[in-house]
Amino acid sequence: MMETPFAKALINGLNKSQKTLEPKFFYDAEGSRLFEEITQLDAYYPTRTELSILETQADEIAAFLGPGVVLVEPGAGAPTKAEKLLAAMKSPMAYAPGDISIDHLERAMSPLRLRFPQLRIAPFRLDFDDAFDLPNDVAALGPVAIFFPGSTIGNFSPEGARRLLRRFSRIDNAQTLLIGVDLKKDKTRLEHAYDDPEGVTAAFNLNLLARANRELATDFDLSSFRHFARYDESLGRVEMHLESVRDQTVNVLGKPIHFLEGESIHTENSYKFKVSDFQAMAAEAGWSPVKVWTDPDNLFAELAFSKLSL
Ligand code: TRP
Repeated sequence: MMETPFAKALINGLNKSQKTLEPKFFYDAEGSRLFEEITQLDAYYPTRTELSILETQADEIAAFLGPGVVLVEPGAGAPTKAEKLLAAMKSPMAYAPGDISIDHLERAMSPLRLRFPQLRIAPFRLDFDDAFDLPNDVAALGPVAIFFPGSTIGNFSPEGARRLLRRFSRIDNAQTLLIGVDLKKDKTRLEHAYDDPEGVTAAFNLNLLARANRELATDFDLSSFRHFARYDESLGRVEMHLESVRDQTVNVLGKPIHFLEGESIHTENSYKFKVSDFQAMAAEAGWSPVKVWTDPDNLFAELAFSKLSL
């Protein structure tokens, strides 16, 4: 039990002076389900805003992607957004979604398989911490377009984001990148999106501790931790934390971990961008900006890039 990646990450993160837990552990079955719920919340504007951009601009975006393309979606979760693209694209060759929770992903493909019976759908397991390959020979079917929606790029550190974009540029046959990023905006709106009144985001964050109790027999008292989200304007990111509401000691795999009242575990960052800053970063990682689509309120942007030729 001690040796699972989750156990190692937990021990490691909770022994730091600012306690942390890696966000990839959010997504067990329960976490994936809660995240789907977040995407439906009134407070969480990014999902529906991006969907509306993809829907209203579908023809232009499809024209940018071109015909006969292989659509690769790292960190897919659900194919709702890809479905909008696939419906507008001219003869897509394949759709390859990658996610850390492969069971969840497989199940989520059923409606897509029904709607596009001819399309080759090739889900693959993807952990951003490891090297990844596309499922066998899909890259050979046509030029590869990488679709990275949901502002997932904002969950990486600036260096991590640049590294990931660089890795995308090295995917076999990669030609274009379509990426969804959440834009800088007022603090209240941002913090509300990550701390909804229904408490779903709180449940999602706390599920990390519930998961540790389930899988690793730790004894976190969930009522002694509270979720909070805060926008740090200077860093341009929303931080998610789990804060201990009292002084307490938790037994973590045989070791006592002490929490002061008000001490937190930092669980996630969500960086917000300015379009030109993001384009500059992508350019450093091998991608040349082609086009940008946004919603009327400028909440979210869909950015198109083509691979810089060397
Ligand atoms: N990529 C999403 C975002 O940053 C992920 C996300 C939404 C998230 N809500 C969250 C991550 C709450 C952790 C906690 O918007």
